[in-house]
Amino acid sequence: MKTVIIYFSESGKTKAVAKTLSKNLDTDLIEVRDLKNRNGFVGKVFSSIDAFRESKTNTVPSRVDLQNYGLIYFGTPTWAGNATPAIITIIDKCDLRGKDIVLFATMNSSGGRSAINRMKEKVESRGARVVETFTIKTKDKSVEKVGEDSENIAKLLDLSLYNY
Ligand SMILES: Cc1cc2nc3c(=O)[nH]c(=O)nc-3n(C[C@H](O)[C@H](O)[C@H](O)COP(=O)(O)O)c2cc1C
Repeated sequence: MKTVIIYFSESGKTKAVAKTLSKNLDTDLIEVRDLKNRNGFVGKVFSSIDAFRESKTNTVPSRVDLQNYGLIYFGTPTWAGNATPAIITIIDKCDLRGKDIVLFATMNSSGGRSAINRMKEKVESRGARVVETFTIKTKDKSVEKVGEDSENIAKLLDLSLYNY
């Protein structure tokens, strides 16, 4: 059994967290892309509405085979106090029975905890056990700084403990 980090990132901050953790913890890494056009002001408004309503979206990959993984990280930016449509869509297609889960959310200032709580409800209802969660504030931080912060959190929470 192995460990995998599954994440969505629109502007690169969550990607910086996922890549740093993957390197530090020696895990597989899967980026989920959202096929919906979310550009511009209107795109952002609809993104918030979609996240708030938990609207499903089309993603690439459309589903992930988790058979070989014992520990799965799900990482997302916070949108309107919730997880992103891409991550919610993927979680709702996964067979998570018996899996250990780590959840993380990046955010400007607030709402990451409620995003995590919602993801926790979803993964637990699909048969998984959440072993750790964390949020990272990214406002005004470079991707390098976000990477550094992630490295520190990984040490602080001793995330390697959960590795498969
Ligand atoms: C549509 C949209 C909604 C957002 N809503 C929130 C929010 O509710 N709270 C918050 O602190 N940040 C919010 N943000 C900021 C992002 O969560 C934050 O910048 C995140 O780290 C971006 O991650 P990414 O670079 O991986 O896309 C929002 C950003 C977008 C685009």
